[in-house]
Amino acid sequence: MTGSPQPDPVTLATLQTMSQRGEKIACLTTYDASFTRLLEDAGVDMFIIGDSLGMVVMGYESTVPVTLDDMLYCAANVARAGQTAWRVVDLPSGSYETPGQALASARRLVEEGGAHMVKLEGGVDRVAVVEHLVSHDIPVCGHVGLLPQSVEEYGGYKVQGRDAAGAGAILADARALQQAGVGMLVVECVPASLAEQISAAMQVPVIGIGAGAACDGQVLVLYDMLGITAGKLPRFVKDFLQEHGSVHAAVAAYVRAVRDGSYPA
Ligand code: KIV
Repeated sequence: MTGSPQPDPVTLATLQTMSQRGEKIACLTTYDASFTRLLEDAGVDMFIIGDSLGMVVMGYESTVPVTLDDMLYCAANVARAGQTAWRVVDLPSGSYETPGQALASARRLVEEGGAHMVKLEGGVDRVAVVEHLVSHDIPVCGHVGLLPQSVEEYGGYKVQGRDAAGAGAILADARALQQAGVGMLVVECVPASLAEQISAAMQVPVIGIGAGAACDGQVLVLYDMLGITAGKLPRFVKDFLQEHGSVHAAVAAYVRAVRDGSYPA
């Protein structure tokens, strides 16, 4: 740790201003207190306490088996340690099937898990849920493109929106979510040209993962960018630890690379 003075907490307004000024937002996933402290010290603006924890922490094959209690455990770990970064927590699969169920789940993530914002996957099909959450003052982040909770339907982790019909549907999802009131959008594994179109159409910050450089910010799964996730990784993942020698230096290098636009290349 550097012991530098504590910066002001990042708010949604901070992230909105960064995106309007063209300043890139550096985001990583985190699931525990120690990484959370280190990541904040290295300059990360925003955390996603993602249901990717099911794969990288719990050893499942996908995010589908992750429960609300699993999310609450990790979100609370992060909230106890977190001082500055904006915290987005995933609503896990099966926890937001109806507006009422989504509100009950989201309230627990905020009240017990210290979430600043909850994230859910889907588009046009989730409008009623998003509107219900927003009308009850729960900030919502949408997630379009590759939806890991639907991986069994796709038959694997594949780039989405490659043809005109697929791209149009993802753009329509993004627009519908914005209309419903999301305060942020994650776009996963789509062609860079589609992510650019989505970013241009959105007034809220757009965070990309495997979606090219045009988004307002980037996110990676922490264990992927440290090279400790087992198995084959998507091509967009870069192992920052290999080049930088310590976890702190690797994360600081990631933050610099996102900010100066050198990642993703
Ligand atoms: O679960 C997750 O880690 C995510 C990604 C977008 C980072 O949702």
